[in-house]
Amino acid sequence: MITINEHYNKLQASYLFSDIAKRVTRYQDENPDQTIIKLGIGDVTKPLPSACIAAFHKAVEEMASAEGFRGYGPEQGYEFLREAIAEHDFRARGAEIANDEIFVSDGAKCDTGNFQELFSPATVIAIPDPVYPVYLDTNVMAGRTGTFSDGRYKGVVYLESTRENNFVPALPTQPVDLIYLCFPNNPTGSTISKEELKTWVDYARQNKALILFDAAYEAFIKDESLPKTIYEIEGAKEVAVEFRSFSKSGGFTGTRCAYTVVPKDCMAYKGDGTRQELHGLWNRRHCTKFDGVSYPVQRAAEALYSREGKQQSEQLVDYYMKNAELIRTAMSELGFSCVGGDNSPYIWIEGKMDSWKFFDLLLDEAGVVCTPGAGFGKCGEGYIRLSAFNSFENVSLAMERIKDSLA
Ligand code: MLT
Repeated sequence: MITINEHYNKLQASYLFSDIAKRVTRYQDENPDQTIIKLGIGDVTKPLPSACIAAFHKAVEEMASAEGFRGYGPEQGYEFLREAIAEHDFRARGAEIANDEIFVSDGAKCDTGNFQELFSPATVIAIPDPVYPVYLDTNVMAGRTGTFSDGRYKGVVYLESTRENNFVPALPTQPVDLIYLCFPNNPTGSTISKEELKTWVDYARQNKALILFDAAYEAFIKDESLPKTIYEIEGAKEVAVEFRSFSKSGGFTGTRCAYTVVPKDCMAYKGDGTRQELHGLWNRRHCTKFDGVSYPVQRAAEALYSREGKQQSEQLVDYYMKNAELIRTAMSELGFSCVGGDNSPYIWIEGKMDSWKFFDLLLDEAGVVCTPGAGFGKCGEGYIRLSAFNSFENVSLAMERIKDSLA
């Protein structure tokens, strides 16, 4: 008899963004004349930068000749891309990351979801609330939590991010092994200072814990005093793995390319207490379950590090940040308290009502899709998230419609 992994039955309904997509489709079917403006899932709308397109075309042409053709590439990514990443994103900022500590992949969602496989089922996880649902759901699937009741999974240490702590959680008061942090934060758009991040690195070093640091939105940081990578913090290479993505900064949500940094100094422990390098373990997992990102996509990602590519990526980021500023200003003027939008493409808005009710109100009255905060955790109740990823024209129209519908 084939039996299922019962842990899947602990999961709550469907994945948040699929649930929202279903509701939006239903609404559109019932209101075929309404044009819906999507500020829900953080999906980019502008075309790929021309530097990427040129590199993409060139690589496809190479694949058309016997000399230029490539079959399986290295699972960890081609050296040209690993070198560009390590040099520009880390060494240029004073963080000594070697090329072979970079693992190129098809998405930070997959990497942040998969990394927990390296750890024992008994690992105690610390997860922010609210949180990008992938971190929590993948641990539920792996059986690292108890059942769900009253908005929480048993056995998980929740790190509450609230207005009171400026949406930067306090250190856990009980021992934890695996800590998920994301800054600039999805969904709250909050940021963390170097001093605050250092307290987490110090905690992990003192407690033999590991930090999984999701920096998928680092390109949106405008404040130069904020850390762009956790490896700017002394000692972080021993206790932190970092996830990055080209999705939002390079327009790659549909093209798929990201990377994970696993420093060789980064350790976990065997049952007998002896240390083991995570680099070798992740390499083993990656080679077993992944066959690399396609050559043309890696050439397109490499082009983001050329002078032209960097300028074009900055222009993309600036474009979306102008939207973010507009959303934050408009919602603040309507009397809502907002976080994010200054160093992040997400604006976290205290809605003065139940967050699914606010979702329905914006959809029904303004034809605007947001993400209800409750979908990100118990502490998200009462909030909604608006994303800056859409055209400036659509964002302006969405704000006009919201003003009219709330007037
Ligand atoms: C989001 O809207 O939270 C993200 O776009 C989801 C993702 O990157 O998977």
